[in-house]
Amino acid sequence: MAQAQRTPVTATVPNDLEPFWLPFTANRAFKRRPRLIAGAKDMHYITPEGRKLIDGSAGLWCTNAGHNRDPIVAAIQAQAAELDFAPTFQFAHPKAFELAARVASLAPGDLDHVFFCNSGSEAVDTALKIALAFHKVRGEGSRVRLIGRERGYHGVGFGGVAVGGIVSNRKQFGTLLVGVDHLPSTYNREQQAFSVGEPEWGAHLADALDGLVTLHDASTIAAVIVEPMSGSSGVLPPPKGYLERLRAICDKHGILLIFDEVITGYGRLGYAFAAERYGVQPDMITFAKGVTSGSVPMGGVVVRKGVYDAFMQGPEHVIELFHGYTYSAHPLACAAGLATLDLYRAEGLFERARKLEKPWAEAAMGLKGLPNVLDIRAVGLTAGIDLASKPDGVGKRGLEALELGFFEHDVMFRAVGDTIALSPPLIVTESQIGELFGKVAKIIKAVA
Ligand SMILES: Cc1ncc(COP(=O)(O)O)c(C=O)c1O
Repeated sequence: MAQAQRTPVTATVPNDLEPFWLPFTANRAFKRRPRLIAGAKDMHYITPEGRKLIDGSAGLWCTNAGHNRDPIVAAIQAQAAELDFAPTFQFAHPKAFELAARVASLAPGDLDHVFFCNSGSEAVDTALKIALAFHKVRGEGSRVRLIGRERGYHGVGFGGVAVGGIVSNRKQFGTLLVGVDHLPSTYNREQQAFSVGEPEWGAHLADALDGLVTLHDASTIAAVIVEPMSGSSGVLPPPKGYLERLRAICDKHGILLIFDEVITGYGRLGYAFAAERYGVQPDMITFAKGVTSGSVPMGGVVVRKGVYDAFMQGPEHVIELFHGYTYSAHPLACAAGLATLDLYRAEGLFERARKLEKPWAEAAMGLKGLPNVLDIRAVGLTAGIDLASKPDGVGKRGLEALELGFFEHDVMFRAVGDTIALSPPLIVTESQIGELFGKVAKIIKAVA
């Protein structure tokens, strides 16, 4: 294995912050007091001034193997020197097949074919398009309806936003896709507050799918898409039995079930995919983030054999699915993906996450009783801590907590509105778990 070449952190604070329009960011507030990151290693980020911050969010739920790990860095460097780019429209390169086989081997049952793209949003749009096309090639072209869920997050493509259920992500963008409906959210604070892991209450909420079938008729419904554990809307684990029930209803009506595992994939819940944790096999799994541990953009969809096979018919010179991205299976991403999956296996990181789940949840629940803490949810190596909103605005307390963490407590985490969301790299140690929650406790008190 080639050794990664290390460059010291050289970045400085830019003179002009104006031209960059930051995504999902309060730009004016940010530019008044920018939170800049210039380097990273393992569990830490480094600011341009050289300050070390513990990473409580694996970047953006993605650096599951930790930052700048040598084998991944070396694989990317070697690949860049050998093959920068090769098209995967009518051509291909060997690592694309290798990585597809490795990803498929991690997915349960006959989920055995992989379509690559570059992000979670693209993965979701790809899965939705495959669902529509699957029914069409089988002569059931009337199945055009897509079902998502309230509070669901499926990225920012038109398809993903349409099936998504976060109001602020939807309301600026017109009518989105037509023919979309939503299941109710699985979260109910009165019934579930301070549950560790999957809440006992709520499996029956899956039955709403039967209601949608009664309303629209099964013959019009192509697919249901849900996150097994909803991350971006604040860490919402599925109620016990919910996913099983959803699977059974989909089976009864010939509806495809898609698990959006962009966050839950690659060890976040202690398994390669949440489908394995919950013992429920979907028809497609979307993935991104952890597949390369965030090092190079990549996403994809794993589909069941029956879904792939349905397309493999007709004259052989004809393209079976008119879909793809210039950078599908980009060589750098494939090299990074292979090195990442090797690292997960070599270090047993999925098992590690499973073992740490208990001390993690105990540490998270230790925050109960602090000022403004309305609920805490912990599952796998994630936690969502709901804080009461300030009277003068939703999201203000969350942003204050984030700023305080970054500037004064040397910790980085996500703030989703007034929910603090934690999801550290899976290499986190028990003492770092203590450190992380210790800092969060101080911050919660400080923003009271
Ligand atoms: C479940 C889920 N799907 C899709 C996405 C979108 O991924 P990306 O930001 O890579 O497009 C995310 C991002 O957090 C996600 O959590």
